[in-house]
Amino acid sequence: MLILSPSVLLSTTADGYVAYDVHLDRLYRLNPTAALVVELCDGTRDLAALERDLATVVRDDWPHWRDWLATAVCDRLVYESMPDGVPSVAAAGPAELATQADELQQRDRVLAAFVCQQRASGLAPDDPAVSLRLGELAHIVGRRDDARNAYQHYLSQCPDDAEVAHLMTALSDEAPPSRVSNRCIEQLYGRFAGFYDENMLGELGYCAPERLHRAATSALGTRTGLSVLDLGCGTGLNGSRWRDQATHLTGLDLSEPMIAKARARGVYDRLDTAEITAWLDTASERFDVIVACDTLIYFGDLTQVVRPARPRLTAGGVLAFSLERGECDAYQLSDSGRFTHRPDYVSSVVSAANLTLVSLDETVVRHEYGQPVIGLLAVCRR
Ligand SMILES: C[S@@+](CC[C@H](N)C(=O)[O-])C[C@H]1O[C@@H](n2cnc3c(N)ncnc32)[C@H](O)[C@@H]1O
Repeated sequence: MLILSPSVLLSTTADGYVAYDVHLDRLYRLNPTAALVVELCDGTRDLAALERDLATVVRDDWPHWRDWLATAVCDRLVYESMPDGVPSVAAAGPAELATQADELQQRDRVLAAFVCQQRASGLAPDDPAVSLRLGELAHIVGRRDDARNAYQHYLSQCPDDAEVAHLMTALSDEAPPSRVSNRCIEQLYGRFAGFYDENMLGELGYCAPERLHRAATSALGTRTGLSVLDLGCGTGLNGSRWRDQATHLTGLDLSEPMIAKARARGVYDRLDTAEITAWLDTASERFDVIVACDTLIYFGDLTQVVRPARPRLTAGGVLAFSLERGECDAYQLSDSGRFTHRPDYVSSVVSAANLTLVSLDETVVRHEYGQPVIGLLAVCRR
C-alpha cells in the first residue's frame, strides 16, 4: 500500500503543494497532479488501485505518473508500506516546529521554514508569537494571502502593533497613507537601532550614503565649510560622510534610540529628536546642504518634504535624497512597507517646489533577500 512519508509536511500553493520532509530536510514542489498522487498515497491503495483511481485525471499519461511515483519511492517521499524508523511529523509540537523554522530560515531555507511554521501555527493558533512569525515567513516567501491572514490573526490579539498594522496596509489593496505613521517608525527603529549598522553594512550591503554623497558633492564641487542638515539621520551612517565638509552638521530623527546611536558616533554638532515635516514647518535656519538618505522611502507624497525644505536652503544650496525606484504609480507602498517612487514623479515634485534637478541617477542602494534594491539619487539646487 502506497503511503506518503510520515515525516513530510504538506502546504497548499496556488498550483499544488510544497512538501517538506522534516526528517530528510528535503523540499519538493508538487504540481496539481503530483499533489493528487501524494494525496491518494494514504495507505489504502496499491499501484493498481492508484492507476484505477487516477484514470480519469491522467488518462494516457499514466506511464509518466508511474515513473514519477517510482522516483518518489526512490526519494523516500512515498513508501510502499508504512516504514519503520522514520519519525512521524505528527508527533512534533508547535515549539519544536517553530524552532526548526528558525533554524531553516538561518540557513536561507525560507520556504521550508514557512511550511514548518504553518504547521506550528495550526497547532498553536492562539499563540500570537507563532502567528507573527508565520506572517513574517509568508511575507518573505511572497505568499501575500497567508501573510495577511497570519498578521490579521496576530493583530486581533495584539492590536497595538503599529509595524504589523502598517504591513497589513502594505499587503492590502487599500490606498496608502501619505507617509508611514510616527508610531510605526518609532516602533520599527526602536527595535532596529541595536543592530542597524551591523545589519545594513553587513547582510544588506547598504551603500546609499556613499553614493548619495558622491552625487551631491559632484554638484557642490570643492565647497567646504558647509552647514548640513541630515533628515532621518538614524545612527549617523550618512552624517559621517559629511563631517569633513561641514562646519555645522545637524541631524534629526524621530527615533530616540537611533538618535542615541548617532550621539554616540560623535559626528553631529546638533541632534534633534523630531518628525521631519513638523521640524521643517517651524524651522527658521538655512543650510547649504539638506540630505535625506534612505529616509524618504517612508514618505509617499514627496511634496510634504521637498516643498518645506526649499526655504531652508541657502541660495545655491543643495537638497539630495535617495529613494527606491518604482515603476507603476507615481509612488507606491510596496509589500516591504517602504515606498517606491517613479523617476518622472520625482522630477515633477522637484520642479513644482521651484528647485532645479541637477541629477537623478539610478543605482543599487542595498540588497534585500539577496536581490539588489534599485534606488534613485536625486540632487536638486535652489
Ligand atoms: C533607513 S533609516 C536611514 C538612516 C540614515 N539616514 C542612514 O542612511 O543610515 C531611516 C531613518 O529615517 C527616520 N525617519 C523615518 N521617517 C521619519 C520622519 N517622518 N521623521 C523623522 N525621522 C524619520 C527613521 O527613524 C530612521 O532612523
